[in-house]
Amino acid sequence: MAIKKIGVLTSGGDGSGMNAAIRAVVRSAVSRNLEVAGILRGYEGLINSEMISMNHRSVSNIISRGGTILKTARSERFMTEEGQRQAVEVIKDHKIDGLIVIGGDGTYRGAHILSTKWKVPCVGVPGTIDNDLKGTDWTIGADTAINVALEAIDKIRDTATSMERIFVVEVMGREGGFIAIEVALGGGAEEVVIPERKFDVQAMCHEIVEGNIRGKISWIIITAEGAISGQELAKQITDITDLETRVVVLGHIQRGGSPTAQDRNLATRLGVAAVELLLKGESDKAVGIVADNLNVVSLEEALKPKPVKGDELYRLIKITI
Ligand code: F6P
Repeated sequence: MAIKKIGVLTSGGDGSGMNAAIRAVVRSAVSRNLEVAGILRGYEGLINSEMISMNHRSVSNIISRGGTILKTARSERFMTEEGQRQAVEVIKDHKIDGLIVIGGDGTYRGAHILSTKWKVPCVGVPGTIDNDLKGTDWTIGADTAINVALEAIDKIRDTATSMERIFVVEVMGREGGFIAIEVALGGGAEEVVIPERKFDVQAMCHEIVEGNIRGKISWIIITAEGAISGQELAKQITDITDLETRVVVLGHIQRGGSPTAQDRNLATRLGVAAVELLLKGESDKAVGIVADNLNVVSLEEALKPKPVKGDELYRLIKITI
């Protein structure tokens, strides 16, 4: 079936660079004389038939903007058979021949169901700060998130050093420690706690006390939200060492900000690749970049666990403190 019209949506947690990906999808589709429907609010908006017609101009001046002009949501309704049926009806009513979905694991799961169960051609573009999708070295938004977090950690270091304090900094990562381990290494943190590695609070406290005896008086400890919360970790450190500990939860600032060059260019490469893949008649696939080359995997493969380099990077963190 020749593709004449495509739909594009962003779903799940937003990440910086999603707009650059939307821009690339729209402009490459328009250059191939395709019609483009921008679906608002992810799968939820699809069910509700919230759509805008997009052209070259619709994506002017968004390459540098964080967030997503199409808005995003997490849809409970799309998890149900009834929600999916409604979404498929909307796709048919609008004569959409294929979908490009930009998002993380939940977005990919939705696209996998749409393509396999409901026979709607779908291609996934990896957009999540978590960098937890296989088939790509980096997901769109991850580089900006770690740079935003690093900037904050650098500022925390200024006050930590001046006031000779222990700071626990909680970063995002419910399931994985990608952001935590990257910013710990880049920010010169003394310790990091991630879900993928066992951690021993007693040993950490022993190291702090010993370090303080040697004259080391400021500490930056990073924790991924899914390992242990910043509040809880700080409480445990204070209970054991009797040292005052401050907590900073970086939270959603990690999802905002103007995308880095890496995220913009990744998004542009992958947005164009996704359109080209759909035009080749492919479906149930995800695009990515591995070792600087375009890579295509099945959505199912992309959803398999992606290990972080926890041990390797942790070793470097400990060698360089
Ligand atoms: O998946 C992206 C992410 O930012 C995670 O790192 C984080 O745990 C979660 O989303 C937060 O979700 P919400 O914005 O719904 O609170």
